[in-house]
Amino acid sequence: MKNILITGGAGFIGSHLVRLMVNKYPQYNIINLDLLTYAGNLENLRDVESKPNYKFVKADICDIEQIRRVIADNQIDGIIHLAAESHVDRSIVDPFSFARTNVMGTLSLLQAAREYWTSNSRDSKSGGATGSSNPFEGKLFYHVSTDEVYGSLENDGSFFTEDTKYDPHSPYSASKASSDHFVRAWHDTYGFPVKISNCSNNYGSFQFPEKLIPLFINNIRHNKPLPVYGKGENVRDWLYVEDHAAAIDLIFHEGKLGETYNIGGFNEWKNIDLIKVLIATVDRQLGRPAGASLPLITYVTDRAGHDLRYAIDSGKLNRELGWSPSLQFEEGIEKTVKWYLENGKWLDSVTSGEYQKYYDSMYNR
Ligand code: NAD
Ligand code: DAU
Repeated sequence: MKNILITGGAGFIGSHLVRLMVNKYPQYNIINLDLLTYAGNLENLRDVESKPNYKFVKADICDIEQIRRVIADNQIDGIIHLAAESHVDRSIVDPFSFARTNVMGTLSLLQAAREYWTSNSRDSKSGGATGSSNPFEGKLFYHVSTDEVYGSLENDGSFFTEDTKYDPHSPYSASKASSDHFVRAWHDTYGFPVKISNCSNNYGSFQFPEKLIPLFINNIRHNKPLPVYGKGENVRDWLYVEDHAAAIDLIFHEGKLGETYNIGGFNEWKNIDLIKVLIATVDRQLGRPAGASLPLITYVTDRAGHDLRYAIDSGKLNRELGWSPSLQFEEGIEKTVKWYLENGKWLDSVTSGEYQKYYDSMYNR
């Protein structure tokens, strides 16, 4: 493979993956395709934008004509698909956008890639003379998905494995589950070369401050209330974003075709406990007295259909490809808080009054 299309490369995880791939593989041309929605930000990629093996294309994954052109113009051999609507709370208010982008957008990419790779295979160009029966040789479609497709666990020590039945509850997870099914259908029906990974909650730099960790760091910074949904007892399994990008790189290169890999940190936190660690870290780094920001904790209306617990068993990825998270959570949180506090301008530039109003009305905060 030479020409790799990364969709959603201007978002949180996508920008970390683009940076890794551009720096680690000078022999690849990395084409970052992104619509630059509210969550996409080219500021996230300033350090790689002038590299000779990097190119940005603004396009909508739902526009199949645009996608056909980008794939053909750049002679794409490999696709890593991250572009999505990614925030559960938004999906509750606006489910159609999630169906459009996450389902129809994925379908457009699958279809455009299948058409291009089929019509440009060595065999089709030689009129069938090479006798190669696989038009997809050397091609790959890697779909980045989420653990939320598996539903919710009880507090009983169980984990999501690759064999756990899909049981999505939110419009977001339903749309991601649907896109996963289409990717597998392309593999089973057309012999299309796919890989899928399902990852747990990511944290780190460049995450849009609507998600728990950057939102709360920003609010502590401004002495604003910290809206804890319900009783704060929901559990999430947190993974440092650069570890997720490293896992995607590994699976992309060494994973088996047609397979699914779960990615997670074996790092479960009850929301309220995580929030207390965040408060302690931000207060310390800002030079405030210990516990100064604890009174900002404000219990608000719970998220509708709030999944109780996610926990990923990433044993398959560890056994088969040797991956494990590189960073301890304490170190990851320390680095993450430091990054947001040192990049207040980035936070301010992506935080508009409009998006604050949106959530304030939803959760009475
Ligand atoms: P994000 O919201 O930060 O970024 C999404 C990117 O997709 C943005 O740059 C946006 O501009 C782009 N995009 C949206 N609609 C588009 C369209 N129609 N055409 C082209 N580009 C479009 O998301 P993220 O948190 O970086 O998540 C990336 C992927 O990883 C998603 O598929 C998500 O489901 C998955 N995922 C996320 C997490 C997490 O904790 N954030 C965990 C597991 C899996
Ligand atoms: O598990 C992977 C998923 O993790 C990804 O697929 C999603 O794209 C990503 O957004 C994330 O989903 P969550 O809903 O788990 O993340 P979020 O940061 O929105 O919320 C984390 C937990 O914190 C969840 O239990 C809800 C709670 N929460 C969140 C916000 C934004 C609050 O209590 N208050 C808040 O203001």
